[in-house]
Amino acid sequence: MDLDQIRADFPMLSRQIKGRPLIYFDNACMSLRPQAVLTEIQRYYTEMSACAGRSNHRLARAVTEAVSAVRESVKNFIGAKLAEEIIFTRNTTEGINLVANSLELKAGETVLISDKEHNSNLVPWLKLQRTRGIKLAVVKSTPDNRFDQVRFEQALTQERPKLVSWVMTSNLDGVTNPIETITQLAHRAGALVMVDAAQSVPHQPVKVTELEVDFLAFSGHKMMGPSGIGGLYGKKTCLDKMEGFLVGGDTVVSTTYTDYQHLPLPEKFEAGLQDYAGIMGLGAAVDYLTKIGWDKLKSHESHLNQIISQGLREINGLKIIGPKDPKLRGSIVAFYLEGVDPHQIAALLDEAYGIMVRSGQHCVHSWFNDRGIQGSVRASSYFYNTEAEAVSLVEAVKAVRRMV
Ligand code: ALA
Repeated sequence: MDLDQIRADFPMLSRQIKGRPLIYFDNACMSLRPQAVLTEIQRYYTEMSACAGRSNHRLARAVTEAVSAVRESVKNFIGAKLAEEIIFTRNTTEGINLVANSLELKAGETVLISDKEHNSNLVPWLKLQRTRGIKLAVVKSTPDNRFDQVRFEQALTQERPKLVSWVMTSNLDGVTNPIETITQLAHRAGALVMVDAAQSVPHQPVKVTELEVDFLAFSGHKMMGPSGIGGLYGKKTCLDKMEGFLVGGDTVVSTTYTDYQHLPLPEKFEAGLQDYAGIMGLGAAVDYLTKIGWDKLKSHESHLNQIISQGLREINGLKIIGPKDPKLRGSIVAFYLEGVDPHQIAALLDEAYGIMVRSGQHCVHSWFNDRGIQGSVRASSYFYNTEAEAVSLVEAVKAVRRMV
């Protein structure tokens, strides 16, 4: 990869903080955007600025065509069979809420999740437990925070879940779970499978038909797309049977005062005017990511993880969350120092070094609360981060350690 050329595509990377170049290691929360994405967002507002699927004038037709083209490219990107199996959502959270609200889960039926779920794949099920009487069962990970197949198989036998809803790559420690195996075992036990792939789709090839999952949700903002746009893949056979979640304009063929008739997929699940600029920006992000190439991206991120992990391990008392081997933690290094507030470390990294990381419990409160850990500092890289930035991060954390 020509990093200089890539970095020149990202306007944010030319920002200076107190005379130093900005160092951005908060990509698991939000990625930066290349100019191509910004240009595509602007193209909507300057060249079309109309609604899709409704009015019959040239601007509206151009938006309809642009949205269909992005649906097609997202379909190819995640290896779905049909474009109508791609539903545009605001983000992963909305995709999971759609499934939670539209799938017929009855009182007493069980949803099985891991002990490392982001709140977006925990709270929707806790809500159904509270409001509909469904049962939520949680499978513990191994002591080093990896998928525990023995416990998972035991849970499938004991709980007989209706749905397994699992994170593919953890936002807590970067570990990617073997979704293919999880899906095979879950299907054999008669359960449907929903996957939270928010941290996977931006960093590795994810092909839904190879994984054989029933539902998979992802967000645009972690893969260089605009904020507020994401996607839900659902098998046509599953989505066809489900009632709409958000319903209203453009989800129906017709209405009377007593009933409505749903439109077919995907409109059935896309109520109201959509974020057309966001959808077009997402299309540009998919194109950009496709050009980078997964092998280069993955080995670069893994190399950065190695530098950061190795450097941080030299700090007395510092603990890295997850498996010891950085190769198993993708692009994430989450660490904590006993008795030191992670927010204080993050604030000092920003204030004194212009380095952006995330601190706290990263919306995985349940995991931290269960272990009595206050939180962590999380450095998450993307393909545009450099070796020099990784080294600067390590040196800055060492310096901060001497201050706190
Ligand atoms: N899921 C996002 C993160 O992990 C918000 O930072």
